[in-house]
Amino acid sequence: MTARLVVLVSGSGSNLQALLDACADPAFGAQVVAVGADRDDTGGVARAQDAGIPSFVCRVKDFGTRSEWDMALTASVAEFKPDLVISAGFLKLAGDEFLGQFGGRYVNTHNALLPAFPGIHGPRDALDYGVKITGATLFIVDEGVDTGAIIAQVAVPVLDDDTVESLTERIKVAERAQLVDYVGRMAREGWTINGRKVTVP
Ligand code: GRF
Repeated sequence: MTARLVVLVSGSGSNLQALLDACADPAFGAQVVAVGADRDDTGGVARAQDAGIPSFVCRVKDFGTRSEWDMALTASVAEFKPDLVISAGFLKLAGDEFLGQFGGRYVNTHNALLPAFPGIHGPRDALDYGVKITGATLFIVDEGVDTGAIIAQVAVPVLDDDTVESLTERIKVAERAQLVDYVGRMAREGWTINGRKVTVP
């Protein structure tokens, strides 16, 4: 059975593209069935359109309350009956409705080694702190900001002459490879969550 993936994006969608490329091989075991964004004009939705994959935009500002937005986002994703929902640079926190429906199968990739440097400035914060190793973390999303149970991590050295841009780009290379590797394995083999311990065969 081919696993159905819905990918949520807010930006350029290079992680999405890595998944789309991997899914071109039937042996990968997964297929991106839809791409959703929280804003207009994302590179991610453009990539979906180029690939002929359905996409939708669900903007917070179009709803009276955050909870109504959460319900609409949940409904838009549910329509595509995903086995796994992937936040690939999606800059919104999912609400109770979304987690109620997709909890345990909603994953996010973060560009730092959690629990260090959560939030939207992972590479900058790591550089400012002076760590010598940072990286990327794939995790199961919970109610917190980058607090969910960790699926996988990959280390990336910080170089003496790194800028925020160079470090961000080097992390993204490792992050994309990790995302593709683990999403494929989760799609083909499944996964288990026991408290904070996630196991992927
Ligand atoms: C990723 O590095 C992710 O960790 C961060 O935003 C980036 C998304 O990049 N939250 P892209 O849109 O997949 O290119």
